Amino acid sequence: MSSATYYRTHHCGELRLSDAGVRVTLAGWVHRSRDLGGMTFIDLRDRHGIIQLAFNMETQALLCEKARKAGREDVIRVSGTVTERSSKNAHLATGEIEIVVTDLEFLNHSETPPFTMEDQTDGGEELRMKYRYLDLRRPFMQQKFILRAALIKAVREYLDENGFLEIETPNLIKSTPEGARDFIVPSRMQPGNFYALPQSPQILKQLLMVAGMDRYYQIVKCFRDEDFRGDRQPEFSQIDCEMSFVRQEDIWQMFEGMVKHVFRKLQQTELPDFLRLPYRDAIARFGTDKPDMRFGCEIKELNEVCTGSEFAVFNQVLTNNGLIAGLVATGCAGYSRKQIDSLTDYVKAPHRGAGGLIYIRYEADGSVKSSVDKFFSPEHLQKILEQAGAVAGDLLLIVADKTSKTRKVLGDLRLELARMNDWIDPAAWSIFWVVDMPMFEPDEETGEPIFAHHPFCSPHPDDVEFFDTDPFRVRAQSYDLVMNGNEILSGSIRIHQPALQRKIFQILGFSEQEIESRFGFMVNAFRYGAPPHGGCAFGLDRWVMLMAGGETIRDVIAFPKNNAGKDLMMEAPSPVDDAQLKMLHLDIIPTENKGSA
Ligand code: AMO
Repeated sequence: MSSATYYRTHHCGELRLSDAGVRVTLAGWVHRSRDLGGMTFIDLRDRHGIIQLAFNMETQALLCEKARKAGREDVIRVSGTVTERSSKNAHLATGEIEIVVTDLEFLNHSETPPFTMEDQTDGGEELRMKYRYLDLRRPFMQQKFILRAALIKAVREYLDENGFLEIETPNLIKSTPEGARDFIVPSRMQPGNFYALPQSPQILKQLLMVAGMDRYYQIVKCFRDEDFRGDRQPEFSQIDCEMSFVRQEDIWQMFEGMVKHVFRKLQQTELPDFLRLPYRDAIARFGTDKPDMRFGCEIKELNEVCTGSEFAVFNQVLTNNGLIAGLVATGCAGYSRKQIDSLTDYVKAPHRGAGGLIYIRYEADGSVKSSVDKFFSPEHLQKILEQAGAVAGDLLLIVADKTSKTRKVLGDLRLELARMNDWIDPAAWSIFWVVDMPMFEPDEETGEPIFAHHPFCSPHPDDVEFFDTDPFRVRAQSYDLVMNGNEILSGSIRIHQPALQRKIFQILGFSEQEIESRFGFMVNAFRYGAPPHGGCAFGLDRWVMLMAGGETIRDVIAFPKNNAGKDLMMEAPSPVDDAQLKMLHLDIIPTENKGSA
């Protein structure tokens, strides 16, 4: 790598003891400076690292005076000689050397920055978002973007080797149904008409298969107007892929290969083959379709062993075909009343909505105490513990509710217990496929079938017969890839027969007219020889976040939005002036609503 330009001969981080005696010119930011009277030191920083500059008052008084004026984040250029340090710094890659400076030039001055450029900065999140360009100067942040670029490079390398063509698709399109709301863009030239920004290039990549492109990929921005969380942004990046003449197995092999390739390149790790976990098992065992399997604590179903008591809550759930199930918190029998109360509050939180949490302590001395002692004999409690697989010293936590709620609540509680007890090894990886996803799920309000993924997924051939009688039983040829409890990929084999596609649209409640107006171009295209095809999309930001050891995708997106969807640096979204609205035929917006967010 050549770092030489007009301003510098080397990067700050690349020099080592073996360079001692070499004359160099460096440019960068003043990270820190220390004035020790006889000597002044500056830590000079660029993207490649930090190096110490030394100025000697005795031999170069004028230069030293000048160096003392350097403030944090000033931009300077220096020339000098690489010299072995007398006191070495083992924490710094360049810690064995310093530059004994002979020339110093100020390239630019910085005002005092609003927070320090240290890994552990004193700036709060809002402040750092407002001054994102300063936040990104921190080596801690720069590492994440170096990793992001390396991951993208490895992905391109792999896809290129495997015959994928990188093809761009437009951003001003018609709505694509991915289950979120669209961002829309008004058309100036077609009054009253709008483009939608793509929620994903789903339909377009399928049309590229109809066009005979065979294997496509694109690292592409997607836009979704949905509620934001740590793992969601309104605009995010996908590694979007599609292949012709493939079945599920081919796709799994290809993209498992890609993940392994990336881990090999970035972490020098050979990953084992990925498990394939059926969706139903994931839900039953972990209460979620994206379980974190870096620890155990699986859900234990207890309906049978919980029959025959006077406990009304259990009896009611059993009568209503609900589910009584529990988690064994290994070694937690000693939890205090307060700890159990806080777990009870956790499961009763409005968005989880459990009625309560029942506990059975299996004390280390073998005795048993529970919150339902008055309804169960000690022998019965013992049987429940046994069924759950608890041993002395464990705590069994039980939820009884509608099956889906019991599972969901225990799935959340499982993660909470792992957090509280440090059950997760941060260095471990848990990566596996979740397969046989359902084709439809019930609409939360109406109970009607809505598509679980998107309406282009091909149903499992064995389940087509249940389409009209029991749609919720129909499996899709659809799959996710789960990494440390996060969904990082989702995909499917697509429908390529126009008649079946039309039928799916009808089941989803689209009228003939709606099918024509929303998807007519696609259904028509399929009449001209669509090949069997399928694919997937990785959530690039999530994948990078996990490999960078972060907790939110904001950390790996250069200029992200906050949780309210705002860019605090640019102050977007923001009002536009009336003339612009008029030009876009939007001058109907009442004045009191303009920019009121
Ligand atoms: P899906 O909607 O599941 O599938 O998206 C694919 C992957 O993209 C990531 N992702 C997100 N990341 C950040 N912020 C968001 N708001 C966000 N939404 C999704 C997730 C997810 O697994 N067209 C299909 C793919 C296909 O079938 O080929 C699609 O977009 O990691």
